[in-house]
Amino acid sequence: MTSERLECVGVLTAGGDCPGLNAVIRAFVKAAEKLYDWRILGFADGYEGLLDDSVPRELTAESVRGILPRGGTILGTSNRSNPFAVRRMVDGELRVTDESERAVAKLREHGIGALVVIGGDGSMAIGIRFQREYGIPIVGVPKTIDNDLACTDVTFGFDTAVATATDAIDKLHSTAESHHRVMILEVMGRNAGWIALEAGLAGGGDIILIPEIPFSVDRIAADIEERGRQGRHFSIIVVAEGAFPLGGEPITTMRVGPDGFPRLGGIGVWLAEQLSQRVKYEVRATVLGHLQRGGSPSPFDRVLASRLGTEAALLVGHGDFGKMVAVQGTGIVPVPIEDVVGVNKNVPPSGDRVMTARYLGISFGD
Ligand code: F6P
Repeated sequence: MTSERLECVGVLTAGGDCPGLNAVIRAFVKAAEKLYDWRILGFADGYEGLLDDSVPRELTAESVRGILPRGGTILGTSNRSNPFAVRRMVDGELRVTDESERAVAKLREHGIGALVVIGGDGSMAIGIRFQREYGIPIVGVPKTIDNDLACTDVTFGFDTAVATATDAIDKLHSTAESHHRVMILEVMGRNAGWIALEAGLAGGGDIILIPEIPFSVDRIAADIEERGRQGRHFSIIVVAEGAFPLGGEPITTMRVGPDGFPRLGGIGVWLAEQLSQRVKYEVRATVLGHLQRGGSPSPFDRVLASRLGTEAALLVGHGDFGKMVAVQGTGIVPVPIEDVVGVNKNVPPSGDRVMTARYLGISFGD
């Protein structure tokens, strides 16, 4: 499809929210209005808005005014909705049905000639199916605070999440030192430990636990006692929610959540109990949770989101569909969405950040 024939573009934000979503929407709309003459329609609540009876809202430079510093997404989002696999409880039983035809009918009813999906791995997987199976042209914009999307060096929202986690570590430091305690901070990071690693480095943590490096509780206890022998009677542990002990598994609060995935959480409290039995210090756990996803995006994330939103408009304008705008080096490039889907960008266990941490004396509990 060429830009001449394109009249109306749809936009949606899907999956867990992330600081910078509004900055992407704003940049896309403003750039598109400057360069092209499309009508832009925003669908509500991610893919849910393709299935429910909500009316998509028209987005103009005027209507997106003032949203740059706002957290969340003005369009709303959902991380349960997949038109290809709609999950419903019928008579106490889970039924999964393919309702993608209904979603496509809604897109066609509104004259959508291309759809911009701002989302993570799961959202990209759904988006590319609409292109492959129904010929709906798709452009993707990568989003996750976890920073674990493949093919892009970084995702917006990550910098803000790291800043929030670093602030929490700074605050835990003073109380840990005063009380001679071990303080555990549990941060997000399902499959990858980027937030734990970067916040742990930035906040001067003593022990960082990430899914990429399974840990030993005995090793961590030995490290804490060793710090004590060196006169440091407190320790800060930063643990990613997806971290797990050698031979063990990540801890979940729900084995299968409403979105079909396990809900992670609880490693901090579990570890506190384990360590309490092994070290002479008192141990406390703090779960940072969704504070990491909320609030105003950092200046870095505002700029990155604005660049990605603008590049997405250019990609649509060039008719370069089936691509996601990605950060590579100092530039932004289009990458095939097919290359992104199902691939997790993990922390390299021998990469320079992990090695920097090790040279600084930080333990990974291994
Ligand atoms: O994928 C981003 C993420 O922040 C994960 O780190 C976390 O496990 C998940 O979202 C939490 O999702 P929910 O808000 O659905 O509990």
